Amino acid sequence: MSKNIVRAYGQVDSATRAANFGHEAYTVWFTGLSGSGKSTLAYAVEEALITRGVAAYVLDGDNIRHGLNRDLGFSPEDRTENIRRIGEVCRLFQDAGIVVLTAFISPYTADRDQVRALHSKGRFIEVYVDTPIEVCEERDVKGLYAKARAGQIPEFSGISAPYEPPVDPEVIVDTSAPLQDCVTSILTTLQL
Ligand code: ADX
Repeated sequence: MSKNIVRAYGQVDSATRAANFGHEAYTVWFTGLSGSGKSTLAYAVEEALITRGVAAYVLDGDNIRHGLNRDLGFSPEDRTENIRRIGEVCRLFQDAGIVVLTAFISPYTADRDQVRALHSKGRFIEVYVDTPIEVCEERDVKGLYAKARAGQIPEFSGISAPYEPPVDPEVIVDTSAPLQDCVTSILTTLQL
């Protein structure tokens, strides 16, 4: 980082933003295998929050990889950079007073912990979407597991690349339960 850059500050602090918006800002970080249901859940929680008048927005791995992170692949280094950038984006959303919900595999504990460290205590809610790989593979919504098994996709999470489950997540979601139950348990933790 250059030494010739200086931070700029506005007049509006986070307490003023929260008072105006009527709610606090959080990062709700969904992690789990491809096909575990992260995006479905994140969008369901987003809809529930918006219905309650809470400003909420989903950042989804596949979508972000079409734009902001289109230059990144799936090597360990690129995944780390993917999550680092998203962590910084989450920090901006925090600052803006918005609830951001993220749906990234984010397979490495250290990368997720780096993002947590960017947040004030209690503002980072890690949600482990604990769907067994057998179920993800059986669903195979995008047909990627079949390709990975056929050796057509290298470094596929859970098959030829690692996934490190969270050690102490704020929420563990059992996706064999109805979607609405999963949404409720996340909303209860958020208290929004
Ligand atoms: S992460 O590991 O860097 O967090 P991210 O969530 O952004 O991954 O992207 C995962 C999505 O990319 C998957 O849902 C899947 O659709 C697609 N994908 C393509 N190649 C791979 C791969 N090798 N491993 C995992 N997902 C892949």
